[in-house]
Amino acid sequence: MTSRDTTLLLAAPITWADRLATPLAEIAPEFKVFVRDRDCYEPEAVDYVLGTGAAPGFLSTLPNLKLVFSLGAGVDGFLSDPYFPKQVPLVRFVDRNLSRAMTQYIVLQVLIHYRQQRLFDLAQAERKWEPMAPPRCTEETRIGILGLGEIGRKAGERLRDLDFDVAGWSRSRKALPGIESFAGADELKPFLSRTDILVCVLPLTPDTSGVLNQELFSVLPQDAFVINVARGGHLVERDLIESLDSGHLSGAALDVFAVEPLPKSSPLWTHPKVTITPHVAGVANPRAASLWVRDTVARYKSREPIANVVDFTRGY
Ligand SMILES: NC(=O)c1ccc[n+]([C@@H]2O[C@H](COP(=O)([O-])OP(=O)(O)OC[C@H]3O[C@@H](n4cnc5c(N)ncnc54)[C@H](OP(=O)(O)O)[C@@H]3O)[C@@H](O)[C@H]2O)c1
Repeated sequence: MTSRDTTLLLAAPITWADRLATPLAEIAPEFKVFVRDRDCYEPEAVDYVLGTGAAPGFLSTLPNLKLVFSLGAGVDGFLSDPYFPKQVPLVRFVDRNLSRAMTQYIVLQVLIHYRQQRLFDLAQAERKWEPMAPPRCTEETRIGILGLGEIGRKAGERLRDLDFDVAGWSRSRKALPGIESFAGADELKPFLSRTDILVCVLPLTPDTSGVLNQELFSVLPQDAFVINVARGGHLVERDLIESLDSGHLSGAALDVFAVEPLPKSSPLWTHPKVTITPHVAGVANPRAASLWVRDTVARYKSREPIANVVDFTRGY
């Protein structure tokens, strides 16, 4: 391998690397692309890394690294590396289609819960015609979104447009029409105590790890429902099961787990109040990601500002 101006190393599972190969070759033919887990490459030649994360210390073995691209909106897969070379900017993928897919997932799970669809599915399986009382009206159903960033804000707007009573919690206060803003640790409890359906779209950082725990659930009103689309590390799974079994929470929809794939032995699989999806709420589109990498590298080379650079102090 010869050293080139634009050498991109794919630090992602082989399936992802395969999905990116064709669009990258079409969109950025000038890139020399190597797959970390398959190809031989010289560490000194690597200019850019695109991936979902890296083993601790790996990135610091690449002496000429210029930018790291996170293939997802979350960057915890990179920042869990205590040796991450912080002189190198880390850029995260913020994409209209990804935010739209996440919003669809959140709205879908809210509506499945709100319209009691799981009960109708059970009744259908037993050929039972069981009309149920309609749910209370949307204006009286309070949704709380943990994290009002790219995704949380868009999901909140769609849910507001369906006439739900929507609030969000973030570090800094927001001014979003029709969405009540709660900010900072002091306002977490008031936010939770007015939330019937809780949606977590926080980034996983030392501050937010394990935030979905027994103490937080106990502040939610009786029969609250929990949706986690952020990261498995936000949720203390044992605490969730306890709060479901005690009857305090009415159910949960989970897309992300502490260990993925979710082990077959996990009690979550068969829990009657839990809906499970295999981390599919929002998946990066390979073509859109390839365009983003090409354009960002061009901006970097011409010394133009780059969007969505991670703030290492905040951790997202
Ligand atoms: N399941 C999936 O397939 C999937 C797909 C994509 C993304 N995700 C997850 O979704 C997460 C959110 O993505 P995003 O693009 O919306 O992120 P983002 O734009 O960075 O927004 C993060 C939000 O969380 C808030 N926040 C962060 N730390 C906080 C804290 N300690 N206390 C209170 N609020 C805090 C931020 O507050 P400020 O606004 O005040 O900064 C911001 O509103 C990602 O990190 C990723 O883990 C999952």
